[in-house]
Amino acid sequence: MIRALWRWLTNAGRETPPAPAAPPAEPASTAPAPDATDTPALPGLPFLIRPFEPHDGPALTAVFQAAVHTTATDHYDADQRAAWAAGADAPGFQAALADGLTMVAEWDGRPAAFAQLVERRVTFVYVHPDAARLGIATLLYHHLEDEARIQGLDELVTEASLVARDFFAFLGFEVDGEESVQRQGVSLPRTRMRKRLA
Ligand SMILES: CC(C)(COP(=O)(O)OP(=O)(O)OC[C@H]1O[C@@H](n2cnc3c(N)ncnc32)[C@H](O)[C@@H]1OP(=O)(O)O)[C@@H](O)C(=O)NCCC(=O)NCCS
Repeated sequence: MIRALWRWLTNAGRETPPAPAAPPAEPASTAPAPDATDTPALPGLPFLIRPFEPHDGPALTAVFQAAVHTTATDHYDADQRAAWAAGADAPGFQAALADGLTMVAEWDGRPAAFAQLVERRVTFVYVHPDAARLGIATLLYHHLEDEARIQGLDELVTEASLVARDFFAFLGFEVDGEESVQRQGVSLPRTRMRKRLA
């Protein structure tokens, strides 16, 4: 899928598909699954990449929690996922969504993923499990990398979850070290990674 998407991007000069006619109706947590059997042939992928808007908070929170509770099940146990997901209830989480550059992917008019760059750090990258492995996070990331290059940054760093480590490696990040972060008294292992842009 990802290779097909890149072929499409290359051919289309990274043009953003037109916005769906219908406005977002419900938070992503209730969004219908983007059924692969319904996915039209490229280049008609029905998603849109756009900057964060203030009204996105609830939908992005739902994406965050769904990604943690569902996509991370193979790498973190229930206590770890609960502690991680509780981050969305922490003071400052909603405000943090607006930090730096946050790009949102809408699927069929509803937020399905988001990614954020704050200075040289890729902070958030979360994709709703129903939209996983379709290349959406890759598309979001490349918007962030483009912005970093425009800003003249010579590297990007991230603290990758165990779920996201292969994703960042796919994007060219290299391992810088292992660490654990404490959330609600629970230890969450993660990997420091960096990518040179120069
Ligand atoms: C990590 C995450 C953002 C990836 O989103 P995604 O849209 O599914 O990723 P993409 O489809 O763009 O993947 C691109 C490539 O990265 C690699 N990759 C992505 N997810 C992977 C996984 N779970 N296991 C192994 N490789 C993976 C693959 O090489 C993939 O290409 P392929 O599908 O052709 O094999 C998503 O799984 C997620 O939200 N995880 C839970 C939350 C999380 O850990 N966020 C990061 C916090 S640091």
